[in-house]
Amino acid sequence: MIKQYLLAPGPTPVPNEVDRAMATTMIHHRTPQFSKIFSEARERLKHLFATQNDVLILASSGTGAMEAAVSNLFSPGEKVLVVNGGKFGERWVKISQAYGLEAIQLKVEWGKAVRVDVVEKHLKVYPEIRGVLIQASETSTTVLHPVREIAELTRNGPLLLVDGITAVGVLPVLMEEWGIDVLVTGSQKALMLPPGLGFIALNDRAWQRTETAKLPRFYFDLRLERKNQQKNSTAFTPAVSLIFGLHAALEMLETEGLERVYARHDRLARATRAAATALGLKLLAPENPSPAATGIVLPDGIDGENLLDVLRDQMGVTFAEGQDDLKGRIIRIAHVGYMGAFDVLVAVGALEMALKKFNHPVKLGQGVAAAQEILMEAIL
Ligand SMILES: Cc1ncc(COP(=O)(O)O)c(C=O)c1O
Repeated sequence: MIKQYLLAPGPTPVPNEVDRAMATTMIHHRTPQFSKIFSEARERLKHLFATQNDVLILASSGTGAMEAAVSNLFSPGEKVLVVNGGKFGERWVKISQAYGLEAIQLKVEWGKAVRVDVVEKHLKVYPEIRGVLIQASETSTTVLHPVREIAELTRNGPLLLVDGITAVGVLPVLMEEWGIDVLVTGSQKALMLPPGLGFIALNDRAWQRTETAKLPRFYFDLRLERKNQQKNSTAFTPAVSLIFGLHAALEMLETEGLERVYARHDRLARATRAAATALGLKLLAPENPSPAATGIVLPDGIDGENLLDVLRDQMGVTFAEGQDDLKGRIIRIAHVGYMGAFDVLVAVGALEMALKKFNHPVKLGQGVAAAQEILMEAIL
């Protein structure tokens, strides 16, 4: 037996409390019993999204919620500005194009954050842009984009659609205060659930747009969904077990307190980055790193795929690989969701051993010690 550690940015580990809630005997969804759980989960989600508006719960992965955002807010041929600095920026492009929108791509070098002045310039050059689509945390490159500053630019202009799939519940993303029009997340990251739920919130300005938007929609008709969810029901059969789990996960987050949740993610991320640096490794995103996952550039001569195979198959530790051009060249270590100090130490200890196995000169314990120094902050 090799004990398994899931340290990739989604799916993430699921706590026992959530597993137990999901094992609750199935109930019918058109019942007061379901409505009570649903209503409590809905209230807690508003707190998490920092909005007074409804946060709709969809039976889909995160991409479903992204697609719902596009199909409910635009009309055929409209122009949107997409910040494309990684795999998920690219996903916004693909969804927009699939729906017949004209996606103007603002390409950003992988590992870098978009510059606010460049977004501003694009908005001036294309005043007809109807939406700006961006990731808060671009998981494929482990970069944080400056969503708050971009929201200043869009406040009275195009709608700002933010993919917060590895940001909501990881760091503050203050929908109302910052002026984000649409915020999306998924269940299998900071919410500590299995995959299968998508979440989306719209502000008043975005809800108004749904009245005139002409793209086709059916399963993800948010107006229909809102009408039902405001009555603590759903338009279609909900993922009942996942919603039991959601209820438990949100309770755990509330008990910890969001400020402490954010501080924990920040600490784990700093510890992981300090460990990588102490091992002489380069960070993929040294300037604007995401607190959800850390991208580490591998030394020349080490093939990332082989390294990850050894980590997973011989050591039981699953990290994520690089995508596209970064395949084989980087690894991504997650610290999002149900993670604590000792997950970071497992990650760093395993990485040191794997590098040694591949004959890279590492001093065992050097990264672990650097991480420990930071993790000590939480011990009073
Ligand atoms: C930032 C971001 N956007 C979108 C997605 C896609 O979500 P899903 O795989 O749940 O459809 C992911 C998944 O990793 C993500 O990290």
